Amino acid sequence: MTRRGVDLALRAVSKRYSGGAGTGIVLDDIDLRVSAGDYVVVIGRSGSGKSTLLNLLGGLDRPSSGAVLVDERNLGAMSERELATLRRCQIGFVFQAFNLIPTLTVEENLLVPLQLNGVDRRAASARVGRVLHDAGMAGLQARFPEELSGGEQQRVAVLRAIVHEPDVVIADEPTGNLDLATARQTLELLESFAGKADRSLVMATHSQEVMGRARRVLEIRAGRLYEVDTRGQSR
Ligand SMILES: Nc1ncnc2c1ncn2[C@@H]1O[C@H](COP(=O)(O)OP(=O)(O)OP(=O)(O)O)[C@@H](O)[C@H]1O
Ligand SMILES: [Mg+2]
Repeated sequence: MTRRGVDLALRAVSKRYSGGAGTGIVLDDIDLRVSAGDYVVVIGRSGSGKSTLLNLLGGLDRPSSGAVLVDERNLGAMSERELATLRRCQIGFVFQAFNLIPTLTVEENLLVPLQLNGVDRRAASARVGRVLHDAGMAGLQARFPEELSGGEQQRVAVLRAIVHEPDVVIADEPTGNLDLATARQTLELLESFAGKADRSLVMATHSQEVMGRARRVLEIRAGRLYEVDTRGQSR
């Protein structure tokens, strides 16, 4: 499972949700390039479209117009099956709501991405044991998600996103609702994984600390995307 990373791009992407109270445009003609090895943080007020942007980048949703490119391949031209393969092999996603499978233990939750990628049972178990140990969570292996604290669930969700060694980790507010020390631990887990080779990390956050650590900070405002420099000025 060693690759050379992937480049992600949004080209003239717009996203509108229809139905309910009306039609709202959430993302309006956005261009973005995330190169292999990049560390990008996406900020913006609640409801500004961060999750929408990450879902599009990760191939979990399709744009209303424009193109999402992975290594110059247009996701819009892929079949559901090809998309599923791409997500399974090359992308790790940390959902804002964790989305651990409640009927599986921590160990079983972590085995899922490996089994989907055809890693044999023994090697998969060994790998899961190792990542849990490295993250200081070996003792939680046999617990069910509801037996974990919120912060523990969040860190298991992070491990699940990296255990199959994807090229890109997309994390939607992975440190939201955590105290400073736990947030830092969670961030370090993500960064130590993404720091290797050409792996990239794209994270939505409200945290000043996370912003300070990223290489690039992007802000969504009124449907548009702005690159923010390190002194906090939009341009
Ligand atoms: N499936 C959907 N159908 C209709 N509207 C949606 C849907 N998903 C999101 N929206 C709307 O799109 C806008 C952007 O939502 P999104 O979840 O991307 O925001 P966010 O920046 O991630 O917010 P938060 O910081 O609260 O997580 C919001 O106004 C939201 O209500
Ligand atoms: Mg969100």
